[in-house]
Amino acid sequence: MSQQQPQIKYRQDYLPPAYLVDKVDLTFDVLDDTQTRVRSRMVIHRNPQSTAANVLQLDGSATLLSVVLDGDQLQPGAYQQHADGLAIPDVPDSFILDIETEIDPVANTSLNGLYGSSGNLYTQCEPEGFRKITYYPDRPDVMAKFSTTIIADKQKYPVLLSNGNKVGEGQADKKRHWVKWVDPYRKPAYLFALVAGKLVALKDSYTTVSGRQVALEIWTVAADQDKVAFAMGAVKRSMQWDETRFGLEYDLDIYMIVAVGDFNMGAMENKGLNIFNTSAVLARQDTATDADFERVEAIIGHEYFHNWTGNRVTCRDWFQLSLKEGLTVFRDQEFSADLHSRPVKRIEDVKKLRQLQFPEDAGPTAHAIRPDSYIEMNNFYTMTVYEKGSEVVRMYHTLLGEEGFQKGMKLYFQRHDGQAVTCDDFRAAMADANGVDLEQFARWYSQAGTPLLQVRGEYDAVARSYTLHVKQSCPDTPGQSGKQPYHIPLAVGLLGRDGQDLPLQLAGELAPGAGTRVLHVRAAEQSFTFVNIGELPVPSLLRGFSAPVRLQFDWRDDELSFLMANDSDAFARWEAGQAYAERLLKALLADHAAGRTLQLPAGFVEALRAVLKDHAADPAFKALMLSLPSEADILEMVDVADPGHIHTVREFVLNGLAQALRGEWHEAYNLNQTQRYQPADGGRRSLKNLALAMLTRLSDAWPLEAAEKQCLEADNMTDQMGAMLALRDRDVAERENCYLSFASRWQGDALVMDKFFSLVASSQLPGVLEHVKAAMQHPAFTLKNPNKARALLGSFGRNMLHFHAADGSGYAFLADQVLALDAINPQVASRIVSLFNRRQKLEAQRQALMTRELERILAKDGLSKDVYEIVSKNLA
Ligand code: PHE
Ligand code: ZN
Repeated sequence: MSQQQPQIKYRQDYLPPAYLVDKVDLTFDVLDDTQTRVRSRMVIHRNPQSTAANVLQLDGSATLLSVVLDGDQLQPGAYQQHADGLAIPDVPDSFILDIETEIDPVANTSLNGLYGSSGNLYTQCEPEGFRKITYYPDRPDVMAKFSTTIIADKQKYPVLLSNGNKVGEGQADKKRHWVKWVDPYRKPAYLFALVAGKLVALKDSYTTVSGRQVALEIWTVAADQDKVAFAMGAVKRSMQWDETRFGLEYDLDIYMIVAVGDFNMGAMENKGLNIFNTSAVLARQDTATDADFERVEAIIGHEYFHNWTGNRVTCRDWFQLSLKEGLTVFRDQEFSADLHSRPVKRIEDVKKLRQLQFPEDAGPTAHAIRPDSYIEMNNFYTMTVYEKGSEVVRMYHTLLGEEGFQKGMKLYFQRHDGQAVTCDDFRAAMADANGVDLEQFARWYSQAGTPLLQVRGEYDAVARSYTLHVKQSCPDTPGQSGKQPYHIPLAVGLLGRDGQDLPLQLAGELAPGAGTRVLHVRAAEQSFTFVNIGELPVPSLLRGFSAPVRLQFDWRDDELSFLMANDSDAFARWEAGQAYAERLLKALLADHAAGRTLQLPAGFVEALRAVLKDHAADPAFKALMLSLPSEADILEMVDVADPGHIHTVREFVLNGLAQALRGEWHEAYNLNQTQRYQPADGGRRSLKNLALAMLTRLSDAWPLEAAEKQCLEADNMTDQMGAMLALRDRDVAERENCYLSFASRWQGDALVMDKFFSLVASSQLPGVLEHVKAAMQHPAFTLKNPNKARALLGSFGRNMLHFHAADGSGYAFLADQVLALDAINPQVASRIVSLFNRRQKLEAQRQALMTRELERILAKDGLSKDVYEIVSKNLA
């Protein structure tokens, strides 16, 4: 390392702030594109809770022009400026501080703080971007009332937005105008937002449950205005759902969303002024897939729900991030489940958790949902904090039921509205509202790693009892060994020979109850005995995925296909299919490694044939049942992997299924054709396109022709992409035609071109690395845009075959791009370099090749904290 080791921050070091800000008045004077003056007037008083010395600490890195305390200009000797801020000693107990800074938004390629995008100005302040704008106690436990005045050229920046309500506007001078916004709610600086530029709005309104009219506005550049109608509907659905399911009403007179093409994340919940990545808000049938529509609705919901879970009640410090994110993801998942298919949503969420969070929990950056330390907070907006965090909130719901959970939410808001609090405060509200003990449950917040449940069943025909022996453990993770047992809700059922749930009665209970039972697993080893069980049952375990754990149970193959066909819990039916596939894939991997010929067992084929032939089932659910675990999933199933073998084996199974079930795929393809595009036909489209992709694996010509026709003629993006995907790995003229026509038709649409770039980078055909390099020269590509970088480089990094090319060319290429990106946008660079995090799973040669590239990155002068933290943990 050629630079100083970045500093680690610890959760245990938390101290309350010495000074609080009551009120802050901001004036943004936009002088020209590259020069904005920011004047801040803060009303500050000493925090009675703090015993620290009377030194005011402000975070900041902008060019400092002046500091004025109670009207007196401070000379540079009267305060200390350091790399991360300012310390002013000997301040009074209450005072007014005026600070002036200057910033250049155009030079700011990090997209953090105030930045320029296509000639407009936008802010991003979570978690620590506000300090790039002015000097301020930039921590979430300092909550102030903000007002914001923006002064800018009227031609260039006709629209000037900030949080809260617009209270005035006027002409500043001949060319410039001003607008003033006041936010009546106290908030931390991370929720501050400002937007200035040439934008247009779709306007609508919503009447809340108590009869208040709320103005709704979605702002975009003019060219995007025809793609926001769906988002507007989603805003109204979100508002209504939060009223009915959680009893929560919106609290301002206006709710604005602004779409921006350059954005590091999905979207941001700034009070009254959400800023969205265009990819999370724009959706029109010809440019967005069904999955995009679903994602847009979920993210609109997510940001809206943050108004209560995040803004009205926020985090005390950033270690508590899951307090707002885990809870808000849970809320958006429930929103989608209530509006659409609950089982399908649950399966999709668990697939995502398994594919993206489980590897994180097993890798070098594993951390608890409430981490103990960090170098760069931006690195902790993770699958663990968000998705596992949501699973933890869901477990309260499973343990307490909807009514008990809502009682807990009510108490949480009663106690903490307007405050910055901790995960322990949330847990206490849940426990106190329900009079239950959740002490052991706290381990979900402090321990990293995915617990393993090993379950064994024992039937006693004489006693007519069935016992589940449950053993829990959790692997060591970096810095954490010897985990303590968790409090795990384990939802179970027992299926009789007829496929029906047996009534469940635990030993000691007076009467049988329902067919699903939530067992409380608390000990390292624990047994549960069910009585009055007259036949050997087939257990259904972890119904609904009642806890974020791995489960082992030694089902026979025929028991798995029985569960696939009969389980009353739809999630468990899908899960049985996945367990069956996992067993098969592992066996095939072993065969392949030993040089044995691969064979596809008839039992597995027949189980899937039965799914395909079940014409009563929801097609979306069928498509999920018929999908194999991904290559990333398979990597997690084995200890040491050769990515090439994983690819070969999975392709073998897919090709075998295509062949063995060709008649059924053909039938599914025909039966699920749709005429004119209807949003509600999404399930049929997904099954049809899966069938098409399977059929293009055969030697027949017609599926290739059908795919080409679909690609060229479809009236919606789902079918166009479905066809492109079906052709992606086929070296045929139909593919060439489709790709050419697609790229020329959509060259002017940034979001559709992202789809194109990710298709290029995820292909399994030879020469992908060269195609990716060529795509970087495409006029529509730029590393400066995070969506583009993710589409091309992110997809390449997930390409099991080509990223992991045995000669190391994929690793070298991605390392070069990480270094190039780090100079532009460290947050994006750090996400890309995380694609090296499964290094330890790989066979020795690839590990060595990866290590060399990571060492090269780490040796680079001036590396960001973001990338340093990820790479140093990977190499540790
Ligand atoms: N808080 C945002 C969300 O989850 C995510 C985000 C974090 C956006 C940091 C930008 C920067 O909704
Ligand atoms: Zn969020």
